[in-house]
Amino acid sequence: MSTGRRIVVGITGGIAAYKAVNVVRAFVLLGDDVHVVATEAALRFVGRPTLEAISRNPVHTDLYEGVAEVRHVAIGQSADLIVIAPATANSIAKIALGLADDLLGNTILASTAPLVIAPAMHTEMWNNPATQANVATLRARGVTIVGPGIGRLTGADSGPGRMEEPDTIVAAALAVLDGQDPPVQDGAIQDRATHNLAGQDLAGRQVLISAGGTREPLDPVRFLGNRSSGRQGVALAEAAIARGATVTLVAAHLEVPEPAGVTVHNVSTALELQRDLQAAAFAADIIIMAAAVADYRPAEVQAGKIKKNVAGDRVSLDLVQNPDVLAGLVDHRRPGQVIVGFAAETEPDDALRRDLGRTKIQRKGCDLLVLNRVGWTEGFATVGNTIEVLDRAGDIVMEASGTKLSVAHRILDSILDSGLNGLRQDTPVA
Ligand code: CTP
Repeated sequence: MSTGRRIVVGITGGIAAYKAVNVVRAFVLLGDDVHVVATEAALRFVGRPTLEAISRNPVHTDLYEGVAEVRHVAIGQSADLIVIAPATANSIAKIALGLADDLLGNTILASTAPLVIAPAMHTEMWNNPATQANVATLRARGVTIVGPGIGRLTGADSGPGRMEEPDTIVAAALAVLDGQDPPVQDGAIQDRATHNLAGQDLAGRQVLISAGGTREPLDPVRFLGNRSSGRQGVALAEAAIARGATVTLVAAHLEVPEPAGVTVHNVSTALELQRDLQAAAFAADIIIMAAAVADYRPAEVQAGKIKKNVAGDRVSLDLVQNPDVLAGLVDHRRPGQVIVGFAAETEPDDALRRDLGRTKIQRKGCDLLVLNRVGWTEGFATVGNTIEVLDRAGDIVMEASGTKLSVAHRILDSILDSGLNGLRQDTPVA
């Protein structure tokens, strides 16, 4: 069955071009009308007949073919979505500069369709400040960058640079088509412009953070809530932005201003928080669940205000359990994603509190757990915080105390220090 969508798959000259065949195939199977625009170099890695057979359309390469139908702009103008897979370092540089010296460059420039790019290159090329600056430029223009993944590269080396798997690329593209991945706001562009890229160890990374406390409605005027102010989550967003990341914040009832330069999704209930996090999760390299999520919600929300004279002297609430959002994100994580949970515990004894944290990280399956003590006067709505970070083995990998912003930086340090999935960028960025 046809979707009526016209998808342009741009293929550039990297070894991963052979995997682009499966990207084309996945769109065709979905019922899309797929048009491949390949560079000359791409056709050295994958054959035109294969691409034509799979896409069921002619493959376009030459800028000077089909001049009468003004093909150099027609393909881009009629596209609903353009996916570049694989995108080499060279092609990313050309797209960032707006060069149009081949058919693919013309197609991209002539199109207003969303652009999804799946980079593929050696780790050194990906980490190179020139590539990182180009990727940051594209992200700031609203381009969706999928990956690269981390793993074995073409030679004996391994690290970040592998093209993401075709299924992941297609899932990201579909989410963009569904409008689930809004382009970065103007504020983000300005904010990044005020930062020199030098030393930004999260440049090119997408960080998804939840913050605040969910509210579960009882009736039109009442809710079950918690005392989370969202300060620690907002501080994490500010710290990640300052270190060059692209940040999406899913925010539930913040008591502090939204941070500048961040894409914010405002939600209210645990189910809304889950929905928006799941929609944004595919693109994230790092997910940090700082939100206080209600474990239960009223089984029924009353349409009108609950009246005292009707309810009587004692009232009991029938509550149902909310899904565990964090555990769900872990279950559906894409390869290479680092997921960090929070655990707010009232247990005053340090050893017992750590044991609770160890049990919780095992139960939730996340990579790191930020453990902090909360109570009537601790943790919530305060400027400072004292935390410990546990790893999967149950070891304390970091302890920090200070303002929520300084603690946020230490949490990001411990994520990078953990070396999970090659996140640490030791290469100094000039
Ligand atoms: N969390 C979640 N979904 C829930 C409850 C919690 O995603 N329904 C997340 C929180 O955002 C946090 C972590 O799980 O990152 C731990 O939250 P916490 O409330 O400390 O743990 P619970 O799972 O609720 O366990 P318990 O009630 O035993 O403390």
